Amino acid sequence: MAGKWWQKAIVYQIYPKSFQDTNGDGIGDLQGIIRRLDYLQDLGVNMLWLCPINVSPMCDNGYDIEDYYHIDPSFGTDEDFEALIREAGSRQMKVIMDLVVNHCSYRHKWFQDVLRNPASPYASYFIIREGFGGKEPNNLRCYPGGSAWERIGNSNRFYFHSFAKEQPDLDWENAALRDEICTMMNYWQDKGVAGFRVDAIGNLKKSDQALSRTRFEPDGEDGLTSLAPYVLMQDGIQDYLKEMRDRVFKPHDSFTVAEVSVPEHKLLEFIGPDGYFSTVFDFSYTDIDVEERGGATWKRPWTFREMKEKIILSQMDVQKYGFASPYLENHDQPRSVSKYIPSRDRSYESVTALATMYFFLRGVPFIFQGQELGMENCPFRSIEDFRDPVALQRYAQALERGEDPEAVFAYLRERGRDHGRTPMQWDSTENAGFSEGTPWIMVNPGYVQCNALSQMREGHSIYHYYKDMITLRKKEAYASVLETGWFVPVETRDDRLFCYRRENDSQSVRVLINFSADYVRVPENLMTGEVLLSNREASENGRLMPYHAIVFSE
Ligand code: GLC
Ligand code: CA
Repeated sequence: MAGKWWQKAIVYQIYPKSFQDTNGDGIGDLQGIIRRLDYLQDLGVNMLWLCPINVSPMCDNGYDIEDYYHIDPSFGTDEDFEALIREAGSRQMKVIMDLVVNHCSYRHKWFQDVLRNPASPYASYFIIREGFGGKEPNNLRCYPGGSAWERIGNSNRFYFHSFAKEQPDLDWENAALRDEICTMMNYWQDKGVAGFRVDAIGNLKKSDQALSRTRFEPDGEDGLTSLAPYVLMQDGIQDYLKEMRDRVFKPHDSFTVAEVSVPEHKLLEFIGPDGYFSTVFDFSYTDIDVEERGGATWKRPWTFREMKEKIILSQMDVQKYGFASPYLENHDQPRSVSKYIPSRDRSYESVTALATMYFFLRGVPFIFQGQELGMENCPFRSIEDFRDPVALQRYAQALERGEDPEAVFAYLRERGRDHGRTPMQWDSTENAGFSEGTPWIMVNPGYVQCNALSQMREGHSIYHYYKDMITLRKKEAYASVLETGWFVPVETRDDRLFCYRRENDSQSVRVLINFSADYVRVPENLMTGEVLLSNREASENGRLMPYHAIVFSE
């Protein structure tokens, strides 16, 4: 699968609400992104993924779209978005949008019509079923918790929602709905976006069972059971994905990255040469620290060895068929520094070692805003500091059910989604240079030390290390092997080390990471070659220093 234009992409994910505010309302906006394009160009990224910016009541920060054709006024105007595409383009950066089409907002005019009028033609755009014995058709639990069904008015009709009740699922069985969505996608492609990050797409096809009158065996004390096994990657989804591919992605030669876990035996279908998407996200190592227990997500212990094994397995599987999309963070994840690095070990070296480890894996790398500064989790003081509706709902549910709210708070303080959503830390002035008003969510007090301006001024900073990684990846002499070369794990027989090669017929690059605070002896033959990048100035004979990362050319 040679020669796709997007194999050169280095993606920077922007959470618009928290990137840069320009009008003092405390909410980041498109003009703010435009203002910061020079910063992004200077960093070296060439593709921007914007989390949803369409009109939305923001019940899930934009992942609940009310109008697919217009920009939410809190972010700016339709013209602002056109200007952003243009301005980014003139700096050799493409823009991709977040495509949220498993569901829309309850405020979408289609759904509003359904609420008003039982005979609405739009009823068939949604998944509506009669109740069962006066109650929900079945006892499936939606992702954020609570029933996946919501009653329409005081009728005996219920609509299905995989996410919050403000996010009714769209019925992809309906050809007219599919037609509307493809038309909308083509509208944005024609406006100049280069493709999409495709939200929650594995949920598109619902099994008959999911929608049937069934009493499922409960998996939690709420009497409900997780909907995931009945709505994720169900047979038949391929027809919908093919339609998107053939009607939108292929004709536009789009770049697409889908939020869906794909098992090895389906990778060819999903990301092969004729796959539905360019690439898909892998959750195996980013969700390594959590597990489902009793119908909710909780922390679990994990080891670096386990993480390494998951990354190796994923790389080996994916490269048989297509390209991966290595990432450490996104708007649903806590900060990677806080997740992966024990607090006593947090330093320039450990943060850059983590960065080196993932950045040279095979695939299109993603950087989440602030990751290039080593931003850490926010020390939220109480539940009042949280803004994520999923977090607030979970806390309220714990209170309601007489569960321990402190356990939920402790979980959120490490794992809540708001850690990735606090404002970008631009400088050490008030509100980290994000806004002159009152930010919609608290600013991480760490901004005084950790901010873009001071890291740009200082030669030895995480920011400059990211820049160096990007420069190396683009360097003509290594671009080919780093973009498309095979991933080959190197056995070191030491659980503190992660070593791999990227190689093609003519070249080989070796990445060597010591992910520990120890000095670690390394086999002689791994420490040879020209050093292309290192996070330490000195090097020892035969040993890696604590959190030492080196990239060699062989
Ligand atoms: C995806 C998004 C998440 C959102 C959910 C529902 O998982 O990343 O932020 O809440 O979909 O759209
Ligand atoms: Ca604003």
